[in-house]
Amino acid sequence: MATRGEFSSKFGFVMAAAGSAVGLGNIWGFPTQVASNGGAAFVFVYLVLTFVLAYPVLMAELLVGRYAKSNSIDAYPKITNYKKSAFLGVWGTLTVSSILAFYSIVGGWLMAWALHYFTSLIGLTAIAAWLVEFSFERNILFTVLFSILTLLIVRQGVAAGIERWSVRLMPILLGLMSILIVYVGLQRGASEGWSVFIFPNFSRVFDIDLAISAMGQAFFSLSLGVGTMLIYGSYLSKSENMVSIGALVALVDVGVAILAGALIIPAMYVAQASGVDILDGAGNLISGDGLVFTVLPALFDNMRGLASLVPIGFFTLLLVAALTSSISMLEVPVSYITERKSGDRAKACYWVAGAILLASLIILLNFDALFGLVVSLTTEYSQPLLGLFICVIVGWFWNRNQLLEEIRLGNPEIEITLFWKIWPVYLQFVCPLIILLLFYHSFQS
Ligand code: PHE
Repeated sequence: MATRGEFSSKFGFVMAAAGSAVGLGNIWGFPTQVASNGGAAFVFVYLVLTFVLAYPVLMAELLVGRYAKSNSIDAYPKITNYKKSAFLGVWGTLTVSSILAFYSIVGGWLMAWALHYFTSLIGLTAIAAWLVEFSFERNILFTVLFSILTLLIVRQGVAAGIERWSVRLMPILLGLMSILIVYVGLQRGASEGWSVFIFPNFSRVFDIDLAISAMGQAFFSLSLGVGTMLIYGSYLSKSENMVSIGALVALVDVGVAILAGALIIPAMYVAQASGVDILDGAGNLISGDGLVFTVLPALFDNMRGLASLVPIGFFTLLLVAALTSSISMLEVPVSYITERKSGDRAKACYWVAGAILLASLIILLNFDALFGLVVSLTTEYSQPLLGLFICVIVGWFWNRNQLLEEIRLGNPEIEITLFWKIWPVYLQFVCPLIILLLFYHSFQS
């Protein structure tokens, strides 16, 4: 069997794992949720759930991966000695492949919109108009292009592909974002957006629906449950301190979500100040695709001169974020097939990417019926449920000494920390309980 890939440095790992976590979930999903769930109240609950629920599950996945040093389907049987526990890896792999199927469609839209602004800048108005028309031809063309981009990176392997590109793309993302925040922050109307974003409406903080949305958002944003973090953990050296690296990844993820909110919510109010409608019929802030493809473009249309580069920057930002996440998704099935079947990474990439593209095609052909359904089944239900099973398997079925030994590797002083004393028991009892309670309430209401 070919030797397994490994990240070449701690920085490379953090950029790749943060690159997986930071995606459309942060830059699009998070501001959208803030807009439709009472502004800062959502930010508050999301932050709490990320630290009390998502970070502990992230640690479980990273540790299982590094212990097993294998793809996500073979990893769980290694910690439980129970062959059937492979179901968790299979389920995660199917989920992440379905996520990638819709994510590639959205990635394609972003490419088309970035090109739209570029082509209109150089005067190709007919092409520019076609690029933002919601046609099947445009959708399929750009889904294929986005998938090819993802495939080309993953085909190069862990260090030469995923790590190399994450290390290049993540700083570009942060740079673009900072420039845009400053630019938008200086426009008329931005300060009203800032206050909606910063001051919570406390009456919504205990709203159970809000908590359920925040849980889904936290799991999606940290790429949990589906084996992405597990497989990245499996490429990490035994000499690294997992606890601090995991915390760093979670912090970058949350930090970028907050920055994205600080960009988009004020941008909406700047749009309002220039006459754009930012409220829907019920008086709530417009969210979802209406926000990204209607409200913000209406704002961009008023930009002239140097400012006309802003929309190109914005859609490139989204595209880069999507790409560092899509490569991590493709790696999950590719690593399995490479390790178990062919041994040939390039071949595995073509087969898997081809199959996922087929799934995207099916979604595109039945867009109204399938798109929203796949998004909601995978991200609202499958991911938190997978998280629940991971807590149970790691907390109850993994030999406790082996688990502790894995935490200690690369971190000899860990025994004096709170993490060592609390996390295993917390993961065993409290995390499953929180997830179950939230699910129970969501079916009640
Ligand atoms: N975390 C990514 C985002 O925020 C999405 C993702 C989900 C990536 C699952 C990998 C696995 O957009």
